[in-house]
Amino acid sequence: MRMYDIILKKKDGRALTTAEIKYFISSYMSGGIQDYQMSALLMAIYFRGLNERETADLTMAICDSGERADLSAIPGIKVDKHSTGGVGDKTSLVLVPLVAAAGVPVAKMSGRGLGHTGGTVDKLESIPGFKAALAPAQFIDQVRRIGAAVAAQTGQLAPADKRLYALRDVTATVDSIPLIASSIMSKKIAAGADAIVLDVKVGSGAFMRDQQSAIKLAKTMVDIGCRVGRRTVAVITDMDQPLGFAIGNALEVKEAIDILKGQGPPDLLEICLELGATMLLLAGMADSVQGGKKKLLDLLKSGRALNKFIEFISAQGGDPQVARKEDVLPAAELTAAVSAPSSGYIRAINAAVIGRSAMLLGAGRENKESQIDPSVGIVLQKKVGDTVKAGEALALVHANGTERLDQVKEHVQGAYQIGKDKPEPARLILGSVPEKL
Ligand code: URA
Repeated sequence: MRMYDIILKKKDGRALTTAEIKYFISSYMSGGIQDYQMSALLMAIYFRGLNERETADLTMAICDSGERADLSAIPGIKVDKHSTGGVGDKTSLVLVPLVAAAGVPVAKMSGRGLGHTGGTVDKLESIPGFKAALAPAQFIDQVRRIGAAVAAQTGQLAPADKRLYALRDVTATVDSIPLIASSIMSKKIAAGADAIVLDVKVGSGAFMRDQQSAIKLAKTMVDIGCRVGRRTVAVITDMDQPLGFAIGNALEVKEAIDILKGQGPPDLLEICLELGATMLLLAGMADSVQGGKKKLLDLLKSGRALNKFIEFISAQGGDPQVARKEDVLPAAELTAAVSAPSSGYIRAINAAVIGRSAMLLGAGRENKESQIDPSVGIVLQKKVGDTVKAGEALALVHANGTERLDQVKEHVQGAYQIGKDKPEPARLILGSVPEKL
Protein backbone atom coordinates (compact mmCIF):
# COMPACT_ATOMS: atom_id res chain seq x y z
CA MET A 1 0.00 0.00 0.00
CA ARG A 2 1.27 3.49 -0.83
CA MET A 3 0.11 6.77 0.68
CA TYR A 4 0.41 8.38 -2.77
CA ASP A 5 -2.29 6.02 -4.14
CA ILE A 6 -4.57 6.67 -1.15
CA ILE A 7 -4.32 10.45 -1.63
CA LEU A 8 -4.97 10.07 -5.37
CA LYS A 9 -7.99 7.82 -4.76
CA LYS A 10 -9.58 10.29 -2.35
CA LYS A 11 -8.67 13.25 -4.57
CA ASP A 12 -10.62 11.50 -7.35
CA GLY A 13 -13.61 11.10 -5.01
CA ARG A 14 -13.43 7.33 -4.55
CA ALA A 15 -14.14 5.56 -1.23
CA LEU A 16 -11.16 4.22 0.73
CA THR A 17 -11.20 0.65 2.02
CA THR A 18 -11.08 -0.22 5.72
CA ALA A 19 -7.53 -1.55 5.22
CA GLU A 20 -6.38 1.69 3.57
CA ILE A 21 -7.80 3.77 6.44
CA LYS A 22 -6.14 1.55 9.06
CA TYR A 23 -2.89 1.75 7.11
CA PHE A 24 -2.63 5.53 6.88
CA ILE A 25 -3.44 6.04 10.59
CA SER A 26 -1.04 3.37 11.87
CA SER A 27 1.77 4.37 9.47
CA TYR A 28 1.34 8.03 10.39
CA MET A 29 1.66 7.13 14.07
CA SER A 30 4.73 4.96 13.49
CA GLY A 31 6.49 7.63 11.42
CA GLY A 32 6.13 5.91 8.03
CA ILE A 33 3.96 8.72 6.69
CA GLN A 34 5.00 12.35 7.03
CA ASP A 35 2.91 15.44 7.79
CA TYR A 36 2.99 16.67 4.18
CA GLN A 37 1.25 13.57 2.83
CA MET A 38 -1.23 13.44 5.71
CA SER A 39 -2.03 17.13 5.13
CA ALA A 40 -2.75 16.42 1.47
CA LEU A 41 -5.05 13.55 2.41
CA LEU A 42 -6.89 15.69 4.98
CA MET A 43 -7.48 18.33 2.30
CA ALA A 44 -8.75 15.67 -0.12
CA ILE A 45 -11.12 14.41 2.60
CA TYR A 46 -12.18 17.99 3.29
CA PHE A 47 -13.31 18.45 -0.33
CA ARG A 48 -14.45 14.91 -1.20
CA GLY A 49 -15.86 13.84 2.17
CA LEU A 50 -16.12 10.32 3.60
CA ASN A 51 -19.13 8.02 3.42
CA GLU A 52 -20.66 6.59 6.62
CA ARG A 53 -18.60 3.40 6.53
CA GLU A 54 -15.35 5.28 5.89
CA THR A 55 -16.14 7.72 8.73
CA ALA A 56 -16.76 4.84 11.16
CA ASP A 57 -13.53 3.14 9.96
CA LEU A 58 -11.55 6.34 10.50
CA THR A 59 -13.07 6.72 13.98
CA MET A 60 -12.05 3.19 14.98
CA ALA A 61 -8.56 3.54 13.46
CA ILE A 62 -8.02 6.72 15.53
CA CYS A 63 -9.51 5.03 18.60
CA ASP A 64 -7.21 2.00 18.14
CA SER A 65 -4.11 4.24 17.98
CA GLY A 66 -4.07 4.20 21.79
CA GLU A 67 -5.48 2.62 24.91
CA ARG A 68 -9.14 2.12 25.71
CA ALA A 69 -10.54 2.66 29.18
CA ASP A 70 -12.00 -0.54 30.60
CA LEU A 71 -15.06 0.35 32.67
CA SER A 72 -16.31 -3.24 32.96
CA ALA A 73 -15.59 -3.31 36.71
CA ILE A 74 -18.29 -0.68 37.22
CA PRO A 75 -21.73 -2.27 37.44
CA GLY A 76 -24.60 -0.77 35.43
CA ILE A 77 -24.88 1.02 32.10
CA LYS A 78 -22.26 3.77 31.87
CA VAL A 79 -23.51 6.77 29.92
CA ASP A 80 -21.21 9.56 28.75
CA LYS A 81 -22.16 12.99 27.52
CA HIS A 82 -20.30 15.21 25.10
CA SER A 83 -20.90 18.76 23.97
CA THR A 84 -19.49 20.08 20.71
CA GLY A 85 -18.66 23.20 22.70
CA GLY A 86 -20.06 26.60 23.30
CA VAL A 87 -19.78 29.74 25.38
CA GLY A 88 -20.89 29.42 29.01
CA ASP A 89 -21.50 25.68 28.58
CA LYS A 90 -21.21 24.27 32.09
CA THR A 91 -23.73 21.45 31.65
CA SER A 92 -21.23 18.70 32.56
CA LEU A 93 -20.64 20.31 35.98
CA VAL A 94 -24.35 19.90 36.68
CA LEU A 95 -24.94 16.59 34.91
CA VAL A 96 -22.16 14.54 36.50
CA PRO A 97 -23.61 14.76 40.05
CA LEU A 98 -27.25 15.04 38.93
CA VAL A 99 -27.26 11.90 36.79
CA ALA A 100 -25.13 10.04 39.38
CA ALA A 101 -27.71 10.97 42.04
CA ALA A 102 -30.30 9.23 39.84
CA GLY A 103 -28.27 6.00 40.09
CA VAL A 104 -26.46 6.11 36.72
CA PRO A 105 -22.69 5.62 37.10
CA VAL A 106 -20.84 8.55 35.49
CA ALA A 107 -17.18 7.88 34.64
CA LYS A 108 -16.24 10.99 32.73
CA MET A 109 -12.94 11.69 31.05
CA SER A 110 -12.63 15.22 29.93
CA GLY A 111 -10.16 17.27 27.95
CA ARG A 112 -8.77 20.66 28.79
CA GLY A 113 -10.03 23.47 26.62
CA LEU A 114 -8.24 25.51 24.02
CA GLY A 115 -10.37 28.53 23.32
CA HIS A 116 -12.86 30.75 25.10
CA THR A 117 -12.83 29.20 28.55
CA GLY A 118 -11.34 26.05 29.95
CA GLY A 119 -12.84 22.59 29.57
CA THR A 120 -14.75 20.80 32.35
CA VAL A 121 -11.50 19.78 34.05
CA ASP A 122 -10.17 23.36 34.08
CA LYS A 123 -13.47 24.59 35.52
CA LEU A 124 -13.44 21.97 38.28
CA GLU A 125 -9.81 22.82 39.08
CA SER A 126 -10.92 26.33 40.05
CA ILE A 127 -12.24 24.63 43.22
CA PRO A 128 -9.36 24.71 45.74
CA GLY A 129 -7.78 21.28 46.16
CA PHE A 130 -9.64 19.54 43.30
CA LYS A 131 -7.47 16.96 41.50
CA ALA A 132 -8.35 15.63 38.06
CA ALA A 133 -5.24 13.49 37.60
CA LEU A 134 -6.69 10.14 38.68
CA ALA A 135 -4.95 6.83 38.08
CA PRO A 136 -7.25 4.36 36.24
CA ALA A 137 -7.76 2.17 39.34
CA GLN A 138 -8.57 5.20 41.50
CA PHE A 139 -11.01 6.50 38.85
CA ILE A 140 -12.88 3.18 38.67
CA ASP A 141 -12.88 2.76 42.45
CA GLN A 142 -14.41 6.23 42.92
CA VAL A 143 -17.22 5.54 40.44
CA ARG A 144 -17.92 2.22 42.16
CA ARG A 145 -18.05 3.91 45.59
CA ILE A 146 -19.93 7.13 44.90
CA GLY A 147 -21.17 6.84 41.31
CA ALA A 148 -19.25 9.77 39.81
CA ALA A 149 -15.70 10.77 38.82
CA VAL A 150 -14.17 13.24 36.37
CA ALA A 151 -10.60 12.58 35.23
CA ALA A 152 -8.37 14.55 32.90
CA GLN A 153 -8.09 12.71 29.61
CA THR A 154 -4.56 11.41 29.13
CA GLY A 155 -2.49 11.40 25.95
CA GLN A 156 -2.86 7.61 25.79
CA LEU A 157 -6.50 7.95 24.67
CA ALA A 158 -6.79 8.23 20.85
CA PRO A 159 -3.32 9.81 20.44
CA ALA A 160 -3.74 9.93 16.65
CA ASP A 161 -6.51 12.48 17.15
CA LYS A 162 -4.15 14.88 18.87
CA ARG A 163 -1.69 14.74 15.99
CA LEU A 164 -4.36 14.93 13.30
CA TYR A 165 -6.09 17.84 15.03
CA ALA A 166 -2.81 19.78 15.26
CA LEU A 167 -2.36 19.26 11.51
CA ARG A 168 -5.96 20.23 10.70
CA ASP A 169 -5.55 23.35 12.78
CA VAL A 170 -2.74 24.64 10.56
CA THR A 171 -4.08 23.38 7.21
CA ALA A 172 -7.61 24.90 7.41
CA THR A 173 -9.24 21.45 7.55
CA VAL A 174 -10.88 21.60 11.00
CA ASP A 175 -14.41 22.34 9.80
CA SER A 176 -15.06 19.09 7.96
CA ILE A 177 -18.03 17.09 9.29
CA PRO A 178 -16.49 13.59 8.91
CA LEU A 179 -13.21 14.80 10.46
CA ILE A 180 -14.97 16.48 13.42
CA ALA A 181 -17.27 13.49 13.92
CA SER A 182 -14.44 10.93 13.85
CA SER A 183 -12.29 13.09 16.14
CA ILE A 184 -15.01 13.42 18.79
CA MET A 185 -16.33 9.86 18.57
CA SER A 186 -12.87 8.22 18.63
CA LYS A 187 -12.25 9.79 22.05
CA LYS A 188 -15.73 8.95 23.36
CA ILE A 189 -15.40 5.32 22.28
CA ALA A 190 -11.90 5.04 23.76
CA ALA A 191 -13.26 6.48 27.03
CA GLY A 192 -15.28 3.29 27.39
CA ALA A 193 -18.93 4.27 28.03
CA ASP A 194 -21.75 1.96 26.89
CA ALA A 195 -23.95 4.81 25.67
CA ILE A 196 -23.33 8.39 24.60
CA VAL A 197 -25.51 11.52 24.63
CA LEU A 198 -24.24 14.21 22.29
CA ASP A 199 -25.11 17.88 22.68
CA VAL A 200 -24.56 19.38 19.23
CA LYS A 201 -24.60 23.15 19.52
CA VAL A 202 -25.59 25.51 16.75
CA GLY A 203 -25.29 29.29 16.46
CA SER A 204 -22.88 32.19 16.75
CA GLY A 205 -20.90 30.57 19.59
CA ALA A 206 -20.67 27.07 18.11
CA PHE A 207 -18.61 25.14 15.55
CA MET A 208 -21.79 24.65 13.53
CA ARG A 209 -23.24 28.01 12.53
CA ASP A 210 -26.44 26.72 10.86
CA GLN A 211 -28.99 24.11 11.79
CA GLN A 212 -28.55 22.04 8.64
CA SER A 213 -24.83 21.46 9.34
CA ALA A 214 -25.56 20.72 13.01
CA ILE A 215 -28.11 18.06 12.03
CA LYS A 216 -25.60 16.57 9.57
CA LEU A 217 -22.87 16.43 12.23
CA ALA A 218 -25.32 14.95 14.75
CA LYS A 219 -26.48 12.25 12.30
CA THR A 220 -22.89 11.40 11.39
CA MET A 221 -21.89 10.93 15.04
CA VAL A 222 -25.03 8.94 15.91
CA ASP A 223 -24.34 6.70 12.92
CA ILE A 224 -20.74 6.08 14.04
CA GLY A 225 -21.77 5.26 17.63
CA CYS A 226 -24.50 2.86 16.56
CA ARG A 227 -22.26 1.15 13.97
CA VAL A 228 -19.68 0.35 16.65
CA GLY A 229 -22.17 -0.85 19.23
CA ARG A 230 -22.63 2.23 21.43
CA ARG A 231 -26.16 3.46 21.88
CA THR A 232 -25.87 7.09 20.78
CA VAL A 233 -28.41 9.92 20.73
CA ALA A 234 -27.85 13.57 19.79
CA VAL A 235 -29.71 16.64 20.99
CA ILE A 236 -29.34 19.82 18.95
CA THR A 237 -29.30 22.94 21.13
CA ASP A 238 -29.09 26.67 20.60
CA MET A 239 -25.75 28.47 21.05
CA ASP A 240 -26.69 31.79 19.48
CA GLN A 241 -26.16 33.50 22.83
CA PRO A 242 -24.08 32.26 25.79
CA LEU A 243 -25.67 29.58 27.97
CA GLY A 244 -26.66 30.93 31.39
CA PHE A 245 -25.14 34.20 32.58
CA ALA A 246 -21.59 33.24 33.59
CA ILE A 247 -18.58 32.77 31.28
CA GLY A 248 -15.29 31.99 33.06
CA ASN A 249 -14.11 29.04 35.10
CA ALA A 250 -14.92 29.77 38.78
CA LEU A 251 -17.91 31.89 37.75
CA GLU A 252 -19.32 28.90 35.85
CA VAL A 253 -18.75 26.57 38.80
CA LYS A 254 -20.77 28.97 40.96
CA GLU A 255 -23.60 29.03 38.42
CA ALA A 256 -23.62 25.21 38.18
CA ILE A 257 -23.89 25.04 41.99
CA ASP A 258 -26.84 27.45 41.80
CA ILE A 259 -28.61 24.99 39.47
CA LEU A 260 -27.86 22.11 41.86
CA LYS A 261 -29.45 24.22 44.62
CA GLY A 262 -32.63 24.46 42.53
CA GLN A 263 -31.87 28.02 41.44
CA GLY A 264 -29.81 29.30 38.50
CA PRO A 265 -30.66 30.43 34.98
CA PRO A 266 -33.68 28.79 33.31
CA ASP A 267 -31.94 28.18 29.95
CA LEU A 268 -29.14 26.23 31.64
CA LEU A 269 -31.66 24.24 33.67
CA GLU A 270 -33.71 23.39 30.56
CA ILE A 271 -30.70 22.04 28.65
CA CYS A 272 -29.39 20.10 31.67
CA LEU A 273 -32.80 18.47 32.15
CA GLU A 274 -33.07 17.50 28.47
CA LEU A 275 -29.56 16.01 28.32
CA GLY A 276 -29.79 14.42 31.77
CA ALA A 277 -33.17 12.84 31.03
CA THR A 278 -31.79 11.43 27.76
CA MET A 279 -28.87 9.94 29.73
CA LEU A 280 -31.35 8.33 32.15
CA LEU A 281 -33.35 6.93 29.26
CA LEU A 282 -30.27 5.29 27.70
CA ALA A 283 -29.26 3.90 31.08
CA GLY A 284 -32.69 2.33 31.53
CA MET A 285 -33.45 4.58 34.53
CA ALA A 286 -36.41 6.36 32.89
CA ASP A 287 -39.18 5.29 30.51
CA SER A 288 -39.31 8.60 28.66
CA VAL A 289 -37.49 11.93 28.50
CA GLN A 290 -40.47 13.49 30.31
CA GLY A 291 -40.27 10.89 33.09
CA GLY A 292 -36.50 11.41 33.34
CA LYS A 293 -36.91 15.18 33.72
CA LYS A 294 -39.37 14.70 36.56
CA LYS A 295 -36.92 12.41 38.36
CA LEU A 296 -34.10 14.93 37.92
CA LEU A 297 -36.23 17.84 39.15
CA ASP A 298 -37.03 15.83 42.30
CA LEU A 299 -33.30 15.24 42.87
CA LEU A 300 -32.63 18.97 42.53
CA LYS A 301 -35.48 19.90 44.88
CA SER A 302 -34.59 17.35 47.55
CA GLY A 303 -30.92 18.46 47.67
CA ARG A 304 -29.71 14.97 46.70
CA ALA A 305 -28.01 16.26 43.53
CA LEU A 306 -26.18 18.94 45.53
CA ASN A 307 -25.10 16.35 48.12
CA LYS A 308 -23.76 14.13 45.33
CA PHE A 309 -21.78 17.12 44.00
CA ILE A 310 -20.24 17.70 47.45
CA GLU A 311 -19.42 13.99 47.76
CA PHE A 312 -17.78 13.92 44.32
CA ILE A 313 -15.80 17.14 44.83
CA SER A 314 -14.55 15.94 48.26
CA ALA A 315 -13.57 12.52 46.84
CA GLN A 316 -11.22 14.33 44.44
CA GLY A 317 -9.69 16.57 47.12
CA GLY A 318 -11.83 19.66 46.48
CA ASP A 319 -13.07 21.90 49.28
CA PRO A 320 -16.66 20.77 50.01
CA GLN A 321 -17.45 24.21 51.47
CA VAL A 322 -17.56 25.44 47.87
CA ALA A 323 -21.24 24.53 47.76
CA ARG A 324 -22.09 26.60 50.84
CA LYS A 325 -19.67 29.53 51.04
CA GLU A 326 -19.23 32.21 48.37
CA ASP A 327 -15.59 33.00 49.21
CA VAL A 328 -14.15 29.52 48.62
CA LEU A 329 -13.84 30.07 44.86
CA PRO A 330 -11.15 32.44 43.60
CA ALA A 331 -12.47 35.93 42.83
CA ALA A 332 -11.04 38.57 40.47
CA GLU A 333 -9.63 41.85 41.83
CA LEU A 334 -12.16 44.09 40.15
CA THR A 335 -15.57 44.12 38.52
CA ALA A 336 -16.50 46.65 35.86
CA ALA A 337 -19.92 47.20 34.32
CA VAL A 338 -20.46 47.36 30.56
CA SER A 339 -23.30 49.80 30.02
CA ALA A 340 -25.95 49.87 27.32
CA PRO A 341 -25.39 52.58 24.67
CA SER A 342 -29.15 52.88 23.98
CA SER A 343 -32.54 51.73 25.27
CA GLY A 344 -34.62 48.95 23.78
CA TYR A 345 -34.84 45.17 23.59
CA ILE A 346 -31.78 42.93 23.51
CA ARG A 347 -32.16 41.40 20.06
CA ALA A 348 -28.98 39.31 19.90
CA ILE A 349 -25.75 38.61 21.79
CA ASN A 350 -22.85 37.36 19.68
CA ALA A 351 -21.68 34.39 21.74
CA ALA A 352 -18.33 34.06 19.95
CA VAL A 353 -17.44 37.69 20.73
CA ILE A 354 -18.34 37.21 24.41
CA GLY A 355 -16.25 34.02 24.44
CA ARG A 356 -13.23 35.73 22.89
CA SER A 357 -13.58 38.58 25.39
CA ALA A 358 -13.48 36.09 28.27
CA MET A 359 -10.38 34.55 26.72
CA LEU A 360 -8.69 37.97 26.50
CA LEU A 361 -9.25 38.33 30.25
CA GLY A 362 -7.41 35.02 30.79
CA ALA A 363 -10.40 32.66 31.19
CA GLY A 364 -9.26 30.53 28.23
CA ARG A 365 -6.03 29.45 26.58
CA GLU A 366 -4.84 31.48 23.61
CA ASN A 367 -2.29 28.74 22.92
CA LYS A 368 -1.27 25.41 24.45
CA GLU A 369 1.21 27.08 26.81
CA SER A 370 -1.22 29.69 28.21
CA GLN A 371 -2.15 29.51 31.88
CA ILE A 372 -5.83 29.85 32.75
CA ASP A 373 -6.86 32.44 35.32
CA PRO A 374 -9.77 30.71 37.12
CA SER A 375 -11.19 33.88 38.66
CA VAL A 376 -11.84 36.07 35.62
CA GLY A 377 -14.77 36.18 33.23
CA ILE A 378 -18.00 37.87 32.29
CA VAL A 379 -21.41 37.70 33.93
CA LEU A 380 -24.22 38.79 31.64
CA GLN A 381 -26.86 40.97 33.24
CA LYS A 382 -29.13 40.97 30.18
CA LYS A 383 -30.07 38.20 27.76
CA VAL A 384 -31.96 38.14 24.46
CA GLY A 385 -35.55 39.38 24.89
CA ASP A 386 -34.80 41.51 28.00
CA THR A 387 -35.40 45.26 27.97
CA VAL A 388 -32.60 47.67 28.80
CA LYS A 389 -32.32 51.41 29.45
CA ALA A 390 -29.36 53.43 28.13
CA GLY A 391 -26.61 53.41 30.77
CA GLU A 392 -27.89 50.25 32.50
CA ALA A 393 -25.43 47.34 32.88
CA LEU A 394 -25.43 44.76 30.09
CA ALA A 395 -22.70 42.68 31.71
CA LEU A 396 -20.13 42.68 34.50
CA VAL A 397 -16.51 42.04 33.61
CA HIS A 398 -14.46 40.27 36.34
CA ALA A 399 -10.79 41.10 35.71
CA ASN A 400 -7.38 40.98 37.30
CA GLY A 401 -5.73 44.22 36.23
CA THR A 402 -6.83 46.89 33.81
CA GLU A 403 -4.51 46.07 30.90
CA ARG A 404 -7.18 44.70 28.56
CA LEU A 405 -10.23 45.98 30.41
CA ASP A 406 -11.26 48.79 28.03
CA GLN A 407 -10.77 46.55 25.00
CA VAL A 408 -12.89 43.79 26.59
CA LYS A 409 -15.63 46.22 27.63
CA GLU A 410 -15.78 47.55 24.09
CA HIS A 411 -16.03 44.01 22.64
CA VAL A 412 -18.76 43.01 25.09
CA GLN A 413 -20.78 46.13 24.33
CA GLY A 414 -20.36 45.45 20.61
CA ALA A 415 -21.61 41.88 21.05
CA TYR A 416 -25.02 43.16 22.11
CA GLN A 417 -27.58 44.16 19.49
CA ILE A 418 -30.25 46.48 20.91
CA GLY A 419 -33.38 47.39 18.93
CA LYS A 420 -36.88 48.76 19.26
CA ASP A 421 -38.73 45.52 18.42
CA LYS A 422 -39.06 42.61 20.79
CA PRO A 423 -37.36 39.54 19.24
CA GLU A 424 -39.23 36.26 18.77
CA PRO A 425 -38.48 33.95 21.74
CA ALA A 426 -35.67 31.60 20.70
CA ARG A 427 -36.09 27.85 21.10
CA LEU A 428 -33.35 26.18 23.12
CA ILE A 429 -33.84 22.57 22.12
CA LEU A 430 -33.87 22.59 18.34
CA GLY A 431 -34.26 18.89 17.68
CA SER A 432 -32.78 15.49 18.30
CA VAL A 433 -31.36 12.58 16.36
CA PRO A 434 -32.52 9.24 17.79
CA GLU A 435 -30.29 6.19 17.96
CA LYS A 436 -30.20 3.97 14.89
CA LEU A 437 -31.52 0.57 15.85
N1 URA B 1 -13.83 18.81 18.98
C1 URA B 1 -13.03 17.75 18.79
O1 URA B 1 -12.73 17.01 19.71
N2 URA B 1 -12.57 17.52 17.54
C2 URA B 1 -12.89 18.30 16.48
O2 URA B 1 -12.44 18.03 15.37
C3 URA B 1 -13.72 19.41 16.70
C4 URA B 1 -14.19 19.64 17.98
